[in-house]
Amino acid sequence: MSQAIHPSIAIDPALVPKRQLASGASMPAIGLGTFGSDSVSPTQVAEAVKGAAAAGYRHFDCASVYVNEPEVGASLEEIQRGGIKREELWITSKVWNDKHGEDDLIASCRQSLADLRLDYLDLYLVHWPFPNFHPPGCDVSSRSPDAKPYIHESYMKTWRAMEKLVDLGLVRHIGTSNMTIPKLKLVLRDARIKPAVNEMELHPHFQQPELFRFVRENGIVPVGYCPLGSPGRPERDRTPDDTAPTQDPVILEIARRHGVNPAAVCIKWAVQRGQTPIPFSVNHYRDNLACVISDPLSGEEMNAIAQIDHNCRLIKGQVFLWKEGQTWEALWDTNGEITPP
Ligand SMILES: NC(=O)c1ccc[n+]([C@@H]2O[C@H](COP(=O)([O-])OP(=O)(O)OC[C@H]3O[C@@H](n4cnc5c(N)ncnc54)[C@H](OP(=O)(O)O)[C@@H]3O)[C@@H](O)[C@H]2O)c1
Repeated sequence: MSQAIHPSIAIDPALVPKRQLASGASMPAIGLGTFGSDSVSPTQVAEAVKGAAAAGYRHFDCASVYVNEPEVGASLEEIQRGGIKREELWITSKVWNDKHGEDDLIASCRQSLADLRLDYLDLYLVHWPFPNFHPPGCDVSSRSPDAKPYIHESYMKTWRAMEKLVDLGLVRHIGTSNMTIPKLKLVLRDARIKPAVNEMELHPHFQQPELFRFVRENGIVPVGYCPLGSPGRPERDRTPDDTAPTQDPVILEIARRHGVNPAAVCIKWAVQRGQTPIPFSVNHYRDNLACVISDPLSGEEMNAIAQIDHNCRLIKGQVFLWKEGQTWEALWDTNGEITPP
């Protein structure tokens, strides 16, 4: 059941914390995720986008691969017709892995703009640094016969096309997603326009402290996906070792103390720590926004959550593996170097 939003219980967007990007632009420090996985239809997501805007959200995280941009776009148009100005919104989209070539990338961005019914995007991301096609919804054991590893020269060609989008005025900022420190070091060395944002998995059981520190030290804003540990993710994205941050005793105790649900503790922690969570929700989006303007977690509570990092990556990316016998760790450069081809 979707939340019925009454204007009187909307949250004033001016009260929602903001992140300042290197350009000086200001981005709301929480956004609505729009990936409905296998279970939430494009229509339901589009309804949630409208409801969330009425509740006070101004930041929406979209992607062509979520196959709902046309429906989300109709909602964005309606939201603006209702009086919310384009410049009050922060809209992100992402290029999928089979569109990394310049012409494809520019065409894909134009398609997202047409679908989302926008003249420009606030932020456009390279969704994954691997130029490999796999169909949405495929099993984690599926492999692309022409899968390729990260090759920096190829990524930089993609990045040059991203920079061109800025020059063309189609996007205001460009950023990376699912990157590692060694890959980002090379991009920072070679980019004409540096990534404004890096989107990465971040929740209390996967805090990525080194990458989190690295991006912030380099003027890149961390956007955190799966901020609640993605409890609704499809079966194919689950492994027996996965843990659930919203069931952690430390989170449960802090939630009890504040009289909020465990999801609210994860979101408050994320915003206070300095990342920008983008929780997906069709049923709880108002609560998820309201919690960021309610009483903050104490320093002691923030420290307690810092101690429950399990290094538990949920979105492992197995489908991007390019060689027989590899494990998913190869995608994440866990020994500090880019995994050789
Ligand atoms: N860049 C990337 O590669 C990448 C990868 C994955 C995700 N993302 C982005 O990140 C967004 C969020 O990730 P996610 O959707 O996987 O995970 P998530 O936001 O951690 O979890 C979403 C799930 O939590 C539930 N939920 C939300 N608020 C709740 C609350 N207050 N209480 C109880 N349950 C609650 C939602 O159900 P209800 O709908 O019932 O509230 C939904 O099933 C995606 O939508 C997408 O935009 C990006």
